[in-house]
Amino acid sequence: MIPYENLKLSNQEFFNEYKVQFEEFISSGQYILGTKVEKFEEEFAKYNGNSHCVGVASGLDALTLSLMALELEEGSEVLVPSNTYIATILSIRNQNLVPVLIEPDLSTYQIDPTKIEERITKKTKAIIIVHLYGHACDMNPILSLCKKYDLKLIEDTAQAHGTKYNNQKAGSFGDMGAFSFYPTKNLGALGDAGAITLNNINYCNKIKALRNYGSHKKYYNDFTGVNSRLDPLQAIFLSIKLKKLDQIIDHKRNLATIYNKNLNSDFIRLEEDPKYHHSYHIYPIRHEKRDQLKEYLEKNGVKTEIHYPLAPHRQKCMQGILEGEYPIADKIHSTILSLPISYCHTETDIEEVVKIINKF
Ligand SMILES: Cc1ncc(COP(=O)(O)O)c(C=O)c1O
Repeated sequence: MIPYENLKLSNQEFFNEYKVQFEEFISSGQYILGTKVEKFEEEFAKYNGNSHCVGVASGLDALTLSLMALELEEGSEVLVPSNTYIATILSIRNQNLVPVLIEPDLSTYQIDPTKIEERITKKTKAIIIVHLYGHACDMNPILSLCKKYDLKLIEDTAQAHGTKYNNQKAGSFGDMGAFSFYPTKNLGALGDAGAITLNNINYCNKIKALRNYGSHKKYYNDFTGVNSRLDPLQAIFLSIKLKKLDQIIDHKRNLATIYNKNLNSDFIRLEEDPKYHHSYHIYPIRHEKRDQLKEYLEKNGVKTEIHYPLAPHRQKCMQGILEGEYPIADKIHSTILSLPISYCHTETDIEEVVKIINKF
């Protein structure tokens, strides 16, 4: 069986270093925030081309705290792609803001910049773009619109560590980049973790307080914050893995090339465009008979995933909240399938997947 992912195998290369630093951690006596968190924040800001980074407890919290820092008036509209993962929409709802869905471009699965302007109203105050699957959004037209309409820009970079657009890293374009280090991500922790990358020192200081009950100084609270601090143990693991992140991405890009060169044209896939440096968090294809294809692959020893089976506006919890028709999101959600592409896979694994899928 070729697994979709094997987290133990994908992390095995790092086990020895993890163990050594875990020993140091338990004898350090520093179990909340501290130097290990600061070290990772510095390293990740540098990696991403940002001046600051704030470690938080998860990707959802990274989005929520970014919105909290912007202090948008209750009821303000926030634009967001209709095919994103539900967490992006939850962060908007968490702040009593109104999510306004924008359909994606079917050739990239990213928010379609030509469909943004028609959805902007007087109440629109921000946009959360999502670099979905590790493919960047088309940033130039988005940045122009943000400037024209004075919109705050949050990048949901939960799936886009190391992703680039015109050679600039995702998460360094907007007011904030919100990262998740959920274990399956290209830079995955051994538990929940997240971070916000940014260039504005005021937002940075504010988010540092917000993640710590709204407090800069112990027992003095300036904001009504939350407890969402990056766990120093996860920061230690992340610092170790960050040194190899480009190697992990190169490995996945190499596996993607095997798919790109050899998959039959029946399977719709993304065209490679040199403007985008895809980090291949996910390798999505589309097929009209997706469910049958998934079953066929499973029977023949290949595990796949669906990201995602149901569009946000179809979710039970979003009835009465996300109204309207989103046919492109529906089309993507009913035809998309994620093929194995992980640090644990070898070229031989992917060649085997290609051989099997091409016989469907
Ligand atoms: C696009 C997107 N945004 C946000 C999140 C939330 O991240 P977390 O699971 O770390 O809360 C995820 C998680 O997978 C995601 O894929």
